[in-house]
Amino acid sequence: MSYFRDNIERMSGYTPGEQPKDGIYIKLNTNENPYPPSPKVLNAVKEAVNDNLRLYPDPIATAARIKIAETLGTKPEWVMAGNGSDDLLSIIIRSFAGPGDKVVFPYPSYMLYKTLAELQDGISCAVEFNEDYSLSEDFIIEGAKVTFIANPNSPSGTMIPHSKISKIASAIDGVLVVDEAYADFAEDNCLSLAEKHDNVIILRTLSKSYSLAGIRLGFCIAQESLIQGMMKVKDSYNVDRLSIAAVVAALDDQKSMNAHVEKIKETRNYLTKSLEDMGFFVYPSQTNFVLARCMKGISAHNLYQTLKSRKILVRYFNLRRLDDCLRITIGTREEIDALLKNLKELVDTKKHAKIRDACCH
Ligand SMILES: Cc1ncc(COP(=O)(O)O)c(C=O)c1O
Repeated sequence: MSYFRDNIERMSGYTPGEQPKDGIYIKLNTNENPYPPSPKVLNAVKEAVNDNLRLYPDPIATAARIKIAETLGTKPEWVMAGNGSDDLLSIIIRSFAGPGDKVVFPYPSYMLYKTLAELQDGISCAVEFNEDYSLSEDFIIEGAKVTFIANPNSPSGTMIPHSKISKIASAIDGVLVVDEAYADFAEDNCLSLAEKHDNVIILRTLSKSYSLAGIRLGFCIAQESLIQGMMKVKDSYNVDRLSIAAVVAALDDQKSMNAHVEKIKETRNYLTKSLEDMGFFVYPSQTNFVLARCMKGISAHNLYQTLKSRKILVRYFNLRRLDDCLRITIGTREEIDALLKNLKELVDTKKHAKIRDACCH
């Protein structure tokens, strides 16, 4: 006999990317930033390690909301902070969708959206992306309570234009969550849509561009009425004292974040070109990773496994439309050179083996 609710019993749960225990891997599998956080963040966190840790943090993270609002040109009342953007995604689904409600998201995209719908015993409506990762007309589903769009998308790295997102916001019934985890690496963003549409929630994180995946700080921007409602749903103290200190310091040092983002974009161009020269198809990326589709005769799974045995971790998804691809996080130039050297060797060996086989038969 199971003690669990039926929907929990049925679901398999979200599988995060591997986090190896030993640190000797070149880690290009979970879209972390290869550069360190700003020294200002490290100092602020060290300073916050004091006797005050015996006290609960500010339940609504006021200092963080003020700093986020100031940085993005909005009001603190329009901001909510969370324990990573995953915490906010969970607050959003619990706020707006219950059993039997439709939850819409494109496929393939961030796999957590489906898990969230399952947790609520909602109806998952996964709408197939077009071949080029544009959105099809079927994306608007009547009566949907929550629609998620990761923009830029993961794992493709591709971007839906602002004008299209705005049209979707006007056409749908429920809330539209524009998950902008990778916005700082992109040419555009949808922040202004939160003002234009009362059903839009823009989601951001410090995990990627600010090199703070280990701190767990995400935030969302939406009209005050949505934020006020969501405040009722969140845990009382969902952002701890160290995270509040970190976000204030991180947003204070835009220069360091921007410099790292520029380096990552340069390396992204270099990696894209090198992979294309080798024969991979690379989807146009506006993120800190690329999705590379393998050429015919090369198994993405074998490449993933062999790279792993050589201590290079990339992401492989054993899923429809993705099982011939590798998702590769942009590391330092040295890390990417090591990856390319190994990939070249593996792809060439495979080519030579094919030629040899063809000669022998
Ligand atoms: C599209 C997308 N949204 C949200 C997240 C979660 O980010 P966080 O670290 O803020 O929880 C990720 C993490 O990889 C992501 O790819």
